[in-house]
Amino acid sequence: MAETVIQTIDLTKIYPMGEHHITALNRVTLTFTRGEFAGLVGPSGSGKTTLLNIVGTLDTPTSGQAIVMGTETSALTSLEAARLRRQHIGFIFQTFNLFPVYTVFENVEFPLLLLNLSPAERRQRVMEALDWVGLADRARSRPTQLSGGQSQRVAIARAIVKKPSIVIADEPTANLDAENSYNILDIMLRLNRELSITFLFATHDEKVIRYLRRKITLFDGRVARDELFEQPDVSRPPT
Ligand SMILES: Nc1ncnc2c1ncn2[C@@H]1O[C@H](COP(=O)(O)OP(=O)(O)O)[C@@H](O)[C@H]1O
Ligand SMILES: [Mg+2]
Repeated sequence: MAETVIQTIDLTKIYPMGEHHITALNRVTLTFTRGEFAGLVGPSGSGKTTLLNIVGTLDTPTSGQAIVMGTETSALTSLEAARLRRQHIGFIFQTFNLFPVYTVFENVEFPLLLLNLSPAERRQRVMEALDWVGLADRARSRPTQLSGGQSQRVAIARAIVKKPSIVIADEPTANLDAENSYNILDIMLRLNRELSITFLFATHDEKVIRYLRRKITLFDGRVARDELFEQPDVSRPPT
């Protein structure tokens, strides 16, 4: 049986709003296995980011459970949550979130600094990750010298440099044009297939949705549909 990497059980998130409250997630029960290329879709406000943040241990549920790599996360201290993320989870954000004053190399190296690696080992891992995204020749550049597409490729390298089991990507193409969106999708699909990294997206971009092997539609914090696609359509429409 495929290895379970993420499991949520009746996951619920309620935000207090003065006299009222907002139910961002309403008893979401989902299982993700190693190697999935899955996306949360649904209208703005349907709970996609909230779900990603909770399974990424950046936020905690009001009730229910999120089990990540076998660890029930709601009882973790912030230090323990940080350790779980460091070991198992890479993040990619809509706005790239690179450190502008650091070089590309240093940005990608950052997640490795807390691991017990020699500088030579770190260098090798960073250059390998930059090779994956086709930016080994830009190691000395700074993020301000890169295009949006290149910046997101650096962010992908940073997300995978630790060889995580899971990469969480919240609207990763929202600030990219079509060509760069397809470029990063091709890179992520290759990382998924060749390194068995599980990708979990939140998106409402049709380009991303066409690549998904599993599409989970959220509506008002609930799972409205959960669909599998054997043969995702990764052909590029003419531009
Ligand atoms: N920190 C917060 N405080 C209050 N309400 C929030 C907070 N974060 C999200 N929400 C609300 O929770 C719901 C789900 O939000 P979100 O997970 O960001 O949706 P999506 O990513 O699908 O657009 C929305 O109604 C949103 O306004
Ligand atoms: Mg969102």
